[in-house]
Amino acid sequence: NATSENEENVLVGVIGGSGLYHLDNLTYVKHVNPETPWGFPSSPITICSLPSGTRVAFLARHGPGHTISPSAVPSRANIAALKSLGVRAILAFSAVGSLREEIPPGHFILPTQIIDRTKGIRPASFFEGTSVVAHAMFGEPFSMKLVKWLEGPVRKALEDEGRGVQLHTDKCIVCMEGPQFSTRAESLMYRMWGGDLINMSVLPEAKLAREAEIGYALIATATDYDSWRPHSEAVTAAAVFKVLHDNASTSRHVAATILEDLHAAALDGDVLTEEAGSMKFSIMPRS
Ligand code: ADE
Repeated sequence: NATSENEENVLVGVIGGSGLYHLDNLTYVKHVNPETPWGFPSSPITICSLPSGTRVAFLARHGPGHTISPSAVPSRANIAALKSLGVRAILAFSAVGSLREEIPPGHFILPTQIIDRTKGIRPASFFEGTSVVAHAMFGEPFSMKLVKWLEGPVRKALEDEGRGVQLHTDKCIVCMEGPQFSTRAESLMYRMWGGDLINMSVLPEAKLAREAEIGYALIATATDYDSWRPHSEAVTAAAVFKVLHDNASTSRHVAATILEDLHAAALDGDVLTEEAGSMKFSIMPRS
């Protein structure tokens, strides 16, 4: 919808995962529900203003009442809707399983790599069904400038909160299809592959953000040890739910603490230089 394009001029978008359905310390401005060529987003997008008056957009990935399964999230509509508001940096939150002893439930992680174990059933490109052949660069699946920028402020926000939540960096996340959790054998295999975390949601979101030339980083919040630990129970939904509430409240604290500075950094152009124009050389020339 060309007429509404960029009319909100919101630079930073936050995507909330399981348990994170709203943000704190923000003034509600309005809801928008842009229809995109790929349909409507998971939920109407909340536009809020920070104490300085700066606006941010919040989108609940699984819908406001968590009714959309990871395989059915309309990621193209979500990314396109945020893009239509002017968003240039996405901070995505997601509950994840931990494949490493040193990352217990409750800890936060800024991953830098992804292993794709989704099963090809999620539309993962804006170019699907078009006559354009495009191969986006995805060797660094997250915006490294944004990830590096986040490290300091997120760590400080966690320390200030005082609940002992630690931040891990440089980790590799496996994105699986679900909805069932992994078998013990799969969980052990992912560890051998070098996976540190596992979720069902970072893809195709990260790929689509790249195609849309939007900077994208994930703040992963560990809820469980998946199924690889020999003498522990394999992960259950109930075990995940137990930790979601605390993780979501810490996520809200982190968002409230860093969004003002993130907006300023994005405005300066410091954290977003990689993505702008990155698709320019990804489109195959026609002979
Ligand atoms: N999300 C949270 N915990 C998970 C796990 N163990 N596997 C996949 N996705 C998850």
